[in-house]
Amino acid sequence: MEDGGAVPAGTANLIFAVNGERFELSTIDPSTTLLQFLRSQTRFKSVKLGCGEGGCGACVVLLSKYDPVSDEVESFTLSSCLTLICSIDRCSITTSEGLGNTKNGFHPIHQRFAGFHASQCGFCTPGMCISLFSALTNAEKTRRAEPPPGFSKLTVSEAEKAIAGNLCRCTGYRPIADACKSFAADVDMEDLGFNAFWKKGDSKEVKAAKLPFYNPSDQICTFPEFLKDEIKSLMPFTSRKDSWYNPTSVKELTSMLKSNLAESGAQVKLVVGNTGSGYYKEIDHYDKYINLRHIPDLSMIRRDQTGIEIGTTVTISKAILALKEENKSEFPSHGEVVFQKIADHMERIASRFIRNSASVGGNLVMAQRNHFPSDIATILLAVGSEVNIMTDLKHEKVTLEEFLARPPLDSTSVLTSVHIPCWEPTRNATSKNDANLVFETYRAAPRPLGNALPYLNAAFLAEVTPCRTSSGVIIDNIQLAFGAYGSKHAIRAKEVEEFLAGKLLNVGVLYEAIKLLGATVVPEVGTSNAAYRSSLAVSFLFEFLCPFVDACDEFSDGLLDGRNDAFLQRGSKIRNNQKQFHHMKNPVLPLSSKQVVELNQNYSPVGEPIAKDSSAIQASGEAVYVDDIPSPTNCLHGAFIYSTKPLAWVKRVKIKPKYLQDGVTGVISFRDIPKGGENIGSKTMFGTEPLFADNITRCAGQALAFVVAETQKLADMAAESAWVDYDTENLEPPILTVEEAVERSSFFDVPPFISPEQVGDFSKGMNEADQKIQSAEIKLGSQYHFYMETQSALAIPDEDNCMLVYSSTQCPESMHSTIARCLSVPEHNVRVITRRVGGGFGGKAVRSMHVATACALAAHKLSRPVRIYLNRKTDMVIAGGRHPMKITYSVGFKSNGKITALRLEILINAGISEDYSAVMPHNILSALKKYDWGALSFDIKLCKTNHSSKTAMRAPGELQGSFIAEAVIEHVASMLSMKVDSVRKKNLHTFDSLKLFYKGSEGEPLEYTLPSIWDKLARSSCLAKRIETIQQFNKFNKWSKRGISQVPIVFGVSLRPTPGKVGVLLDGSIVVEVGGIELGQGLWTKVKQMTAFALSSVKCDGTEDLLYKIRVIQSDSLSLIQGGLTAGSTTSESSCEAVRLCCNTLVERLMPLKNKLQEQMGVVKWETLIDQAYLQSVNLSASSYYAPEFTSTQYLNYGAAVSEVEVNLLTGETTILQSDIIYDCGQSLNPAVDLGQIEGAFVQGIGFFLLEEYATNSDGLVIANGTWTYKIPTVDTIPKRFNVEVLNSGHHQKRVLSSKASGEPPLLLAASVHCATRAAIEEARKQLASWKGLDDPHFHSTIFQLEVPATMPVAKEFCGLDTVECFLKNLLPTSQNP
Ligand SMILES: Cc1cc2nc3c(=O)[nH]c(=O)nc-3n(C[C@H](O)[C@H](O)[C@H](O)COP(=O)(O)OP(=O)(O)OC[C@H]3O[C@@H](n4cnc5c(N)ncnc54)[C@H](O)[C@@H]3O)c2cc1C
Ligand code: FES
Ligand code: FES
Repeated sequence: MEDGGAVPAGTANLIFAVNGERFELSTIDPSTTLLQFLRSQTRFKSVKLGCGEGGCGACVVLLSKYDPVSDEVESFTLSSCLTLICSIDRCSITTSEGLGNTKNGFHPIHQRFAGFHASQCGFCTPGMCISLFSALTNAEKTRRAEPPPGFSKLTVSEAEKAIAGNLCRCTGYRPIADACKSFAADVDMEDLGFNAFWKKGDSKEVKAAKLPFYNPSDQICTFPEFLKDEIKSLMPFTSRKDSWYNPTSVKELTSMLKSNLAESGAQVKLVVGNTGSGYYKEIDHYDKYINLRHIPDLSMIRRDQTGIEIGTTVTISKAILALKEENKSEFPSHGEVVFQKIADHMERIASRFIRNSASVGGNLVMAQRNHFPSDIATILLAVGSEVNIMTDLKHEKVTLEEFLARPPLDSTSVLTSVHIPCWEPTRNATSKNDANLVFETYRAAPRPLGNALPYLNAAFLAEVTPCRTSSGVIIDNIQLAFGAYGSKHAIRAKEVEEFLAGKLLNVGVLYEAIKLLGATVVPEVGTSNAAYRSSLAVSFLFEFLCPFVDACDEFSDGLLDGRNDAFLQRGSKIRNNQKQFHHMKNPVLPLSSKQVVELNQNYSPVGEPIAKDSSAIQASGEAVYVDDIPSPTNCLHGAFIYSTKPLAWVKRVKIKPKYLQDGVTGVISFRDIPKGGENIGSKTMFGTEPLFADNITRCAGQALAFVVAETQKLADMAAESAWVDYDTENLEPPILTVEEAVERSSFFDVPPFISPEQVGDFSKGMNEADQKIQSAEIKLGSQYHFYMETQSALAIPDEDNCMLVYSSTQCPESMHSTIARCLSVPEHNVRVITRRVGGGFGGKAVRSMHVATACALAAHKLSRPVRIYLNRKTDMVIAGGRHPMKITYSVGFKSNGKITALRLEILINAGISEDYSAVMPHNILSALKKYDWGALSFDIKLCKTNHSSKTAMRAPGELQGSFIAEAVIEHVASMLSMKVDSVRKKNLHTFDSLKLFYKGSEGEPLEYTLPSIWDKLARSSCLAKRIETIQQFNKFNKWSKRGISQVPIVFGVSLRPTPGKVGVLLDGSIVVEVGGIELGQGLWTKVKQMTAFALSSVKCDGTEDLLYKIRVIQSDSLSLIQGGLTAGSTTSESSCEAVRLCCNTLVERLMPLKNKLQEQMGVVKWETLIDQAYLQSVNLSASSYYAPEFTSTQYLNYGAAVSEVEVNLLTGETTILQSDIIYDCGQSLNPAVDLGQIEGAFVQGIGFFLLEEYATNSDGLVIANGTWTYKIPTVDTIPKRFNVEVLNSGHHQKRVLSSKASGEPPLLLAASVHCATRAAIEEARKQLASWKGLDDPHFHSTIFQLEVPATMPVAKEFCGLDTVECFLKNLLPTSQNP
């Protein structure tokens, strides 16, 4: 039992269970979340903090409630980061450790996640496992047929949706979806991807038998008996005094509100699920919390003929069930269909683990009081819902419309229920039985399955009757609701409604209605993508009404599936018209995939697809990350105060005095750096960056100070409350654009050793050209790493002025010396330890140094341990991210598409310090040189600006370089009106030109596999046939267009020196240390395989099992010096080579003894050999420093991808229908690991090209600073069909056991998705041009640069924001055409 804070929690203690253990708290700060409690006061650390705002799923737990009356347990997932601990009274919590663990055995979920290679860094995995567990538990409760042994009642579709709201930044989701699907009764085993359980060719039965057995009746006890007994004896539930209240009746609630408010100044908060705090991150505590969940009147659901009344504390999940329950009859009534559609829409709100605790009332109050962009308000507004409000025991019923328009609900009022009417069509004399009621809801959001706020949502209800005198349809009544588009609240478009009422619908009427609507749905000033949002309103109304416009055949292309309204089955034209849109509304799951992997048996166990090391403990949540290390006694917590100005004097930094009383211990700044120490936060071979701004801040996001407090929460609140006095007197204006940097000659140097070289003679190449493009421009933005584990560190002062630092870093070596320089101590006084990193992607190379150094400085100053776990917002603000850049190019080419010369001028925004930016020119060009440009000349400038320092992110520079190459090729193809793919092919290298462009790293001619990959992929993906099908599709579809594109990559890597150490212990077990850090990329797994392989050459009995005797241990910067940097895709192979050298030494030392023993004993067991070696004092520890020869440090990686997409012209949504990849891994060290890298990198690339906008304000301060605004790919945004071949291209003399890198290069292949999107948009633009009249000089249909990322607003803008208007205008008779 643990006790927390100081505020008494109530008359009864808070009692609950976690994984069967009892907890009873007599006092607890009621603002404590379940996550904070679990992580700080229990041993259950599987519950991870990824965002703290409900947007990532890393913190998901299963909550179980027991009803003593029915003796039933109800279980559902929720986000523990938003759930208040006091609200789980009498409940039981199950975390991933509770499903299974190292001691008691893993759960089949854990085992299958491991075996399907579905865990890389592992930070998301426990949350994923719980989401799946909950889906399995719920499926077992259904009345479905019993599944075959080993399977569950879960369906494939449910399995995929189970993890829809959980983010993973490593895997690309496909293997996670497979692990989930493996439990589904209806799964086709052939659909399950590459895994460690079965071999190619195994029968379905054998496959099923090899899966870790799942027995649904072996249910985990989610609610312990002791708690059931206590609940029985504790009934009725007592409410608490002081700060947490559990009123059990409306009367009690009213008197509480009255008495509380009588107390002057008390801050009172009504809470239900508390999910609203994920959006409105409240810094301050409330004095009192009133939990509305225990008031029966607020949690009822009542049905009668008039409709459904839902109490406001009913969760969205329960409301969905209730609305669906109405719809069980074979021929549902109109009202039932309306309810069903409301429920369908609600299923796209947030994610399941939010909907399970989020209340309907909480949502409506947020919409009314705080202008939250609610879906519920809009859809309920369209159907004329009413709400009940209680103020002082007085009840008032008002329409939702009136409620939303009122001033914000005051704190004495409670929303008690919402009434959703049951709609039936009016039966009057004119319409008779022919009247039809039509209802549809819409939302346009970056993720189809939810977990993303919409740009706009809408719901329309109309009563229509066929016209008796013509074949048209008359709109009798119509209700049009729109919301979330940047208005205060959802609105009804009354003017449009009135205009439409009573009208016979035809093109002219529709056109007028749409014009009126455009003037009605106007976002407030300052709303992002305002014109796009207005255009969505038009699109949705068009989509809704289109099926009823009968007069025009143009509407009915007869292409797509029908909308399923049982009551709308009349007239083939209406059906056909609806078909177009239904198809576009539901393009979500399921997924299918294929992996082709050729195994390499030459160096077993190297080359085997063994499951990633530690993946089972990652799944159970037992794997220890920095923030999971228990706090030492007296430990303090830190938080950064960062600048919000780009260039200013920092005159004062103050935090609210109240926090000083509450436990803030100190505010550390550059003034606290010890004598002799440097203000240094990071160092690279190119320069250093200060830890804190001194008197001047030089970029928004720069650290000004470090608040140190008793808890992380307090430190974060104090830092957030900080007030900074800035002054810009006598300062030049900041440099915020690359153009300003050029004007003021503000650049960083690129050292000659890393400066790229020009190729050929540009002028000559231009002279040879038939055509030229001069000075075309491209702009590329930034990208945030979004590792699931934010930056974290723990610094512990040690004896004799030493400092022990645990850090989640990719670069312990440089961190080590940075800390020593900052503290002014010899380097041997500092020790940096890193066990594993919860995702890095380059972001934990340099930026992690600041975080750890700040902790070390604070620990040094205060002589106490100091730790930090950065909150997501601060992490996003200070991370820097990928380098934005502006590219200007001129290119010359022949009429047949052969390019003769390319010149690039690139301005790279490097931010305020060097970081690793000097590698950018080299990296950009290295990937750009994948084509033979004839001659290549460039001028690349690294602009020093007042932005946060841009840093390495997976494939830094290469990603942009590869894309620039594609943009140039696309441009050339448009100019020549040639097929892009033929221009690509024409310019692919021959081996001779490859040699010219990649001097020294081209390898042997046979190693240049790209041309064969290119042709093979075209065949395996049926490219030619699909191009034809797409042409047909585009011809017959007006509102969605498809595009396909094939893209090659060439990616140069180089090996770096790295150390290794291998020791054999007395029992024969082996311990390995390497310089490389395990980031989820499978480095330890490959290292283990290599150790086993290399030691097995001693050839003893038992060496075939060596793999299971090896442990790779944490990196320790004093134990293994010169560890270097884990980056650039090659650390795994270098580390493997380093341990191979160690093993060779050990084998050499052991061989004489082994031979001697063999002579004496015949067979020698490994254990005997080692035992004897100990007796004979053989040195069984070997270390090495692998320093590769220059000739073998560089080589090229090849791959290609074909992607096909469909773009919805009405919303701009891009759906990736299929991606096919072939990637050359040489002889893969572990094809499962490499496959994971390929898929994961590709999906991260999809994020860059389609989704992720790392937006800043005009001062350069990051404003896309959380999961609400920054959208990484989710399971519903990856390719629907995803096929990957890991090519085994045979022997490569100079590689580590012929292997090749896989971490970064495949990311570049995602450009295929962007190019395919561009191709689809080109089709849309051609169509639009024809509607507009081909002679429109302002509209270039085929020559355009599609921005990156091509988000929905961007795609829609390129397709035409006015596409609907143009289409209709084009159809109007000339007399009506304005
Ligand atoms: C990650 C995430 C994604 C989301 N995505 C969407 C989305 O796509 N679309 C959408 O519509 N919504 C979305 N939501 C919003 C979500 O629906 C609301 O947060 C939730 O419904 C609020 O319910 P709650 O019980 O958690 O309210 P709480 O957080 O407990 O309360 C919210 C506010 O309402 C007040 N309040 C609650 N009940 C009452 C009452 N009966 N009377 C008076 N005041 C009351 C509280 O005091 C508080 O101020 C999302 C939320 C999250 C966290
Ligand atoms: S940490 Fe709770 S959802 Fe992200
Ligand atoms: S494995 Fe999913 S975030 Fe790393």
